[in-house]
Amino acid sequence: TAVQAADGQYKIAPDELLQAAEYLHRGQLVVFPTETVYGIGALVDQPAALREIFTVKGRPQDNPLILHVDSYAMLQRYVQPLNAEEKLLVDNFMPGPVTFILRRNQQVNDIITAGLDTVGIRMPGNIIARNLITACGAGIAAPSANISGKPSPTESKAVIDDFWQKVACIIDGGDSAFGVESTILDLSRKPYHILRPGAVSAAQFNAVLQANGYAAEVVEQHDYYLPNLKAADVPKAPGMKYRHYAPEAEVKILRGSPAEMAKNLITLVSGKKATDATAKIAVFVSRDLYAALPGAVQKQIDFPYFFEDYACNLKQLPHEELVESGFSSLDKKAFQAANGLFQALRQADRDQAALILVEAVENMGIAQAYMNRLTKAETK
Ligand code: TXA
Ligand code: MG
Repeated sequence: TAVQAADGQYKIAPDELLQAAEYLHRGQLVVFPTETVYGIGALVDQPAALREIFTVKGRPQDNPLILHVDSYAMLQRYVQPLNAEEKLLVDNFMPGPVTFILRRNQQVNDIITAGLDTVGIRMPGNIIARNLITACGAGIAAPSANISGKPSPTESKAVIDDFWQKVACIIDGGDSAFGVESTILDLSRKPYHILRPGAVSAAQFNAVLQANGYAAEVVEQHDYYLPNLKAADVPKAPGMKYRHYAPEAEVKILRGSPAEMAKNLITLVSGKKATDATAKIAVFVSRDLYAALPGAVQKQIDFPYFFEDYACNLKQLPHEELVESGFSSLDKKAFQAANGLFQALRQADRDQAALILVEAVENMGIAQAYMNRLTKAETK
């Protein structure tokens, strides 16, 4: 376990960190916190452990893992040399909530890349994650620490639900700062595509490129997230073709103006109660939306979870320049919604809700990542 110090940072005792590194060196799995979501890790040169990740997660073999590094020097051990433009982006956004798709070299096991000639590399901002990698002296391959298809884990409780006694150890680093997985930026071809939206947006990458005399070449690849993507299609980020983030509860999105969302909510609640009067109903909404509902409707909601109760604790991140430059126009509502989404979806299952109604947030910045995950969680 890590403990929270007075400055709000989680810290882990040096001997516990060494113990976790030792497990990894022995070919065992370790769950560790990052500022996005928790990861379930195996050491880069441990093929049996790498395979074990796929087994315990129930993860399809063709879905590659992200390789986590502690430094630019370590990144260079696994990829083809970067040109000046690629290096500029990497320098500006590492460490942070970004995964770069780069051309790999022969040091990277095929199990990690699922046979692709590229590898996803991320340097976490979370200090426990980075110290763990440093203690190992090599990269840690890690997908999100959830059973495939379930909401990603943004608190240790979620990891315990999925992997208790299935891994050598779980490092508890408190709530994740962002709560949605990293932005995936593909630098292996031009224009550079964002394969998965996250906390860092195309506009932030492009601002850095333009400030340094390059063209704004980062584009969104929205089609990857269309629900009608067929399993046979081969998307650039293979993970995108699978159904994700689905709790047991039915998930419905509330869209439109506040008045439209409230109206929609009332219709869905009364519809559900009409078919099953005992069905428990949860909502994940802003306090404003809830306050606008008639008292009789509020009474029918068994579990109200509120955006405002989820703090996006960016202070947990040591890399303050990134936070200050990249997230100065921080939209509090969107960050809180993104921060709480996976926890709310998992809580709905613990509370045995039959239905969870979730408020849409305008599709910009981190809200785009939020809507991407929410759309994939929605019951079609
Ligand atoms: O924030 C995160 O990225 C977290 C933390 C633990 O770092 N990790 C994470 O891993 O979300 P995972 O496995 O849930 O998602 C990895 C995604 C998948 O969609 C996968 O297809 C994509 O990254 N990916 C990995 N390597 C790739 C590659 N070479 N080319 C394209 N996509 C790749
Ligand atoms: Mg995942």
